[in-house]
Amino acid sequence: MQKKWWQEAVVYQIYCKSFNDTDGDGIGDLQGVVEKLPILKELGINCIWFNPIYKSPQVDNGYDISDYYDIDPAYGTLEDFKKVLETAHSMGIKVIMDQVLNHSSDECVWFQESRKSKDNPYRNYYIWQPPKADGSEPNNWANRFRDGNGSAWQFDEATGEYYLHQYAVKMPDLNWEYEPLRQEIYKMLRWWLDLGVDGFRLDVFTRLKKPAGFPDTTVTPDVLLDRDGYILDNSMCTCLEGIHEILHDMYINVFGPYDCYTVGEGAGVTDVNAHEYISAGRQELSSVYHFMLSGRRMLTLGAERFRSVQKKWAAAMDRDLWPTQYLSNHDSARHVSCYGTDGKYRVPAAKMLATLIHTCPGTPYIYQGEEIGMVNVQFDDIADYNCCYTIGDYHNMVKSGVSPAEALKVLGPKSRDNARTPYQWDDSENAGFTTGKPWLKVNPRYTEINLEADRKSPDSIFAFYQKLIAMRQENPAILDGDLQFYLEDHPELVVYTRRCARQTLLVIANYGHNKNVLTLPASLANRKWQRILANYGGVPALERGQWLPWEAEVYELTE
Ligand code: NOJ
Repeated sequence: MQKKWWQEAVVYQIYCKSFNDTDGDGIGDLQGVVEKLPILKELGINCIWFNPIYKSPQVDNGYDISDYYDIDPAYGTLEDFKKVLETAHSMGIKVIMDQVLNHSSDECVWFQESRKSKDNPYRNYYIWQPPKADGSEPNNWANRFRDGNGSAWQFDEATGEYYLHQYAVKMPDLNWEYEPLRQEIYKMLRWWLDLGVDGFRLDVFTRLKKPAGFPDTTVTPDVLLDRDGYILDNSMCTCLEGIHEILHDMYINVFGPYDCYTVGEGAGVTDVNAHEYISAGRQELSSVYHFMLSGRRMLTLGAERFRSVQKKWAAAMDRDLWPTQYLSNHDSARHVSCYGTDGKYRVPAAKMLATLIHTCPGTPYIYQGEEIGMVNVQFDDIADYNCCYTIGDYHNMVKSGVSPAEALKVLGPKSRDNARTPYQWDDSENAGFTTGKPWLKVNPRYTEINLEADRKSPDSIFAFYQKLIAMRQENPAILDGDLQFYLEDHPELVVYTRRCARQTLLVIANYGHNKNVLTLPASLANRKWQRILANYGGVPALERGQWLPWEAEVYELTE
């Protein structure tokens, strides 16, 4: 079947703030992106996803938007964005934007109006509730960032009511029950599409629908979710039935007529319920960015979970679903550090993990820096961290008696800042990211790990990604093939085929530090093969019969 452009895409995620600073203010900018587009083109990607670059007070690094029609001055202007779009398009690179539709910043004019009076025309753009009889919050929900007093409600003096904020106090939730709000959002989405953007990544879209009457949660929280008596209960506002009506309405009013890609950030979406959101017949979203393989709280992966998640999604694909494939993003740790290793075998591990992602079914995503094997960072002072989760959790832990050093040791490996340290371009000061003071400290390993050094190395990770991306164009089985695993009990070897009418590929990867020997099952053993990708080189592992630590090879089975 004819594929859609986004099924054939390889998406590169740009966290603009940390990508490339051209004006010396320590913050990446759009001019910096234009400057680096040729390198991305060389890498071979054909779509960019921008984390939010709209005007924002940056309480949550842009996920708190104060003007949905403008670019944050730290990144440049709307004209600069048009330049990015035009240049990217001229290179055959599509551009998708993050859209934050669950909440805005409290500095957004809609909220500024909304809080003025109960009869303001914008009042119902947000979710306001009166206090309980004793003056307390409308219910016992916690916010996700442990912000303010922990509650998901903030009292506002001007009108004597509380507003809902699932995230920071300065990020009030939008009210999707209110038709004028929907129309306001639809108008804005169409405006970006008419400007030429090719689609959207929809932030926390599963949380747009809230339960009628805002009932208390009755779950008994575990220690992590109990926030000073307020309780974080995902089931309250995630994947409620009414979400489908909202998404379908958005599709009919906005996405339908455009050839756009809409990928929802799907907390709560799994292979089991994904069809409700992304089957073409539903007219909701194109695809979903799910959290079964990788996520902020998942600090390990391994052969077994990899297989099990991929198998589930491959089965779901039979129902006409198209998944995303990724291991890292701006909310997670660096995947080579947590799912691989950042020691002696960093380079083969980075390549092995990339091989798995780029040869499994779906659209692969590359998070900036993974193509050079960037690794986690550990700061020894909370003042060096920026991530709202890390800071909120740190203060809670310290308050409960944990020592600051111990809290940092626990929280460091999970911090979103691992992914957000500046891009390491070269070994000059600040890794070539800025001539100023970077907004977040550079990872001290930049002198060893940087793009320039990587590209000079005969073992270049960047060059390996180039091959993987090129392979996608040259090998129909990567896009069209089914997925079948072999040796499913093996604790470390991951073995699978991708087979379509025109081709069969065999992927064998050694997930770990141990050397492993392999006897292929009879159905594969007597096939002729040709190796098309290897992360060590030399004699093919299939010939040696032994797999080195983190070794990965791809073969075409020819007969
Ligand atoms: C998910 C985004 O990926 C994350 O970075 C952000 O903090 C929350 N949504 C809130 O918008």
